[in-house]
Amino acid sequence: MKIIICKDYEHMSRFSADIVIEQIRQKPDSVIGLATGSTPLGMYKELIRQYKKGRVDFSKVVTFNLDEYLGLSPDHPQSYHYFMFNNFFNHINIKIENVNLPGGITAYNLDGVCREYDEKIEKAGGIDLQILGIGHNGHIGFNEPGKKLYTQTHIVSLSHETIKANSRFFDHIDEVPRKAITMGVGGIMRAKKILLLASGKDKAAIIKKAFSGIITTEIPASLLQLHKDILVILDKEAAKELKLDNKRFCA
Ligand code: GLP
Repeated sequence: MKIIICKDYEHMSRFSADIVIEQIRQKPDSVIGLATGSTPLGMYKELIRQYKKGRVDFSKVVTFNLDEYLGLSPDHPQSYHYFMFNNFFNHINIKIENVNLPGGITAYNLDGVCREYDEKIEKAGGIDLQILGIGHNGHIGFNEPGKKLYTQTHIVSLSHETIKANSRFFDHIDEVPRKAITMGVGGIMRAKKILLLASGKDKAAIIKKAFSGIITTEIPASLLQLHKDILVILDKEAAKELKLDNKRFCA
């Protein structure tokens, strides 16, 4: 595991966008796992900027999103479907048939939908590069802390903490969906390379716990310590509780 500490959010966003661009240069038909949330927004903006300058071509790239709320239509402003199109896909030359998001409001055979999603990832050759954020409780995707974690894509009941954290995007906390579909921890761990981003002082405590050297299902992100090619990119604020010897590399 490599930890890279950037001086601020802008630097972190540029640094991570450069890694995505390099991945696509090396393999134009890369399969990229994408995340939502505020954290990767700067990276998406930078990727769009670089695309407009002709420095990256998404025409062969295939994407799989990590998760989606259940019960929101794709055109709901808080659905992850809407988020991805609004903040990224609408501004680059990705082919719509290469974009994959799990679930959707019409998904009634949920078990089947979960299985099909994993099969589709496998058929695409697996994820080359997975982008991750981290929840304040250590969730990745929507894999919430608990006694057990699921390996495959599955339906999850969101924790009160996550509902509260994500209510900032909704008019009222009651509007936040209680359930979601998420890739499992196994699906995330099978990615060939992982890039986890975190910024801001409110993420400092969970970053310290997640990358402390202890692994627990109560902090799903801690399992990432077992991955053989993971890069954790932080801004200074998010890194401030890490002990010096945890900082493998500084940028
Ligand atoms: C949501 C998403 C996660 C994301 C997390 C953190 O719950 N399901 O994929 O990593 O929020 O979001 P933020 O980056 O806004 O802190």
